Amino acid sequence: MLAGKNITVGVTGGIAVFKTAQLVSSLKAGGAGLQVIMTRSAQEFVRPLTFQVLSGNPVRTDLFEADRGSVQHIELAAWPDLIVIAPATANILGKAAAGIGDDLLSTVIMAATCPVLFCPAMNVNMYNNAVVQRNIATLRDLGYKFIEPGTGRLACGAEGQGRLADLDQIIEEIEGLLILRKDMVGLTVMVTAGPTVEPIDPVRYLTNRSSGKMGYAVAGAAAARGAKTLLISGPTALKPPCGIELINVETAAQMYNAVIDRFANVDMVVKTAAVADYRPKEAVAQKIKKHNGPMSLELVRNHDILAELGKRKNKQILVGFAAETNDLERNSLRKAQDKNLDLLVANDINQAGAGFGSDTNIVKFVYRGGDIKQMPLMDKKELAHRILDEALAVRRKKQ
Ligand code: CTP
Repeated sequence: MLAGKNITVGVTGGIAVFKTAQLVSSLKAGGAGLQVIMTRSAQEFVRPLTFQVLSGNPVRTDLFEADRGSVQHIELAAWPDLIVIAPATANILGKAAAGIGDDLLSTVIMAATCPVLFCPAMNVNMYNNAVVQRNIATLRDLGYKFIEPGTGRLACGAEGQGRLADLDQIIEEIEGLLILRKDMVGLTVMVTAGPTVEPIDPVRYLTNRSSGKMGYAVAGAAAARGAKTLLISGPTALKPPCGIELINVETAAQMYNAVIDRFANVDMVVKTAAVADYRPKEAVAQKIKKHNGPMSLELVRNHDILAELGKRKNKQILVGFAAETNDLERNSLRKAQDKNLDLLVANDINQAGAGFGSDTNIVKFVYRGGDIKQMPLMDKKELAHRILDEALAVRRKKQ
């Protein structure tokens, strides 16, 4: 997703530099061009060679490099589309807020015209220090971007806010700053994600292999593009994306109620959830004891939430999902028509790189009218944006 974008990563001296190495590696894997600038104290933690190998470029460290005739900091400041300072120490925040340029990184920040994203990481007392907080407020007022540090056990042994934010969160923010048009401002999007669980007794339940990754990616993408986003999720092990409203549910019936309650007020629904079609006729209150011989469980149908939305819809754009093992196109087209969908995202779960638990997906976009578009193998995050692009295109045509 970051192909063609240039990012300068400024590394200052904090123990979280080891996480920055992973960040640089992930940004490189995402296709970004990378340049790393290290301060002198950062080099006390990690040698420049580490970042040279990970970024594929020599690391810049000195304001005055004898072998370079040009004005380095001006050249370096003009090159990137985004500067990310990670970890950002109290010192670099203080220098940037006060207009001090006494080394390469601080002068590059001062000469930059692109957005600058600070990712602070430091001891909790330093972070809460009034001067540091004042510097952050000053920089925010001036238009600098921030990702707040996380809370937990810090390297110094203290507990509190000061850990470098999660890398996923930093990457999401970087993608948001570099790629995204805020083209969903004013829209409300409801996304359902994950499996449902249907209790048999207090100990056992029926569920499926849905990880929730696709739905969480769609919700994160919609929120990043400015939509008010509701994520109605069955149980998953995922961290919710930033900037969404999360509603946790367990059973298909709970998901049905949560979705139907809110449907009238949304502009778009993306139903990635793998909803159980059946539930045990009754969830018994006491644990079922084993006995000799076979046992059978009577199942009854759950509401088809999407089909119900298809009946009720007026202005809403409805996007459904289908996981198929055979006759993908025929089954998907029938589903799109039966459920009155604007778009159906169909995946053949037999293909390598597609379906449950995977970070990638290979899908076909199926339209009620009969058009079918094959998508290449894509990261689920990238696919999330393509789905929203398609849904917005359908919405424009309808208006
Ligand atoms: N869906 C739903 N409510 C259900 C079942 C499914 O809203 N009770 C939605 C899913 O969120 C998904 C789509 O419908 O968007 C899946 O369609 P469906 O026909 O249920 O697919 P399968 O369950 O795979 O259907 P089948 O078992 O007929 O293949």
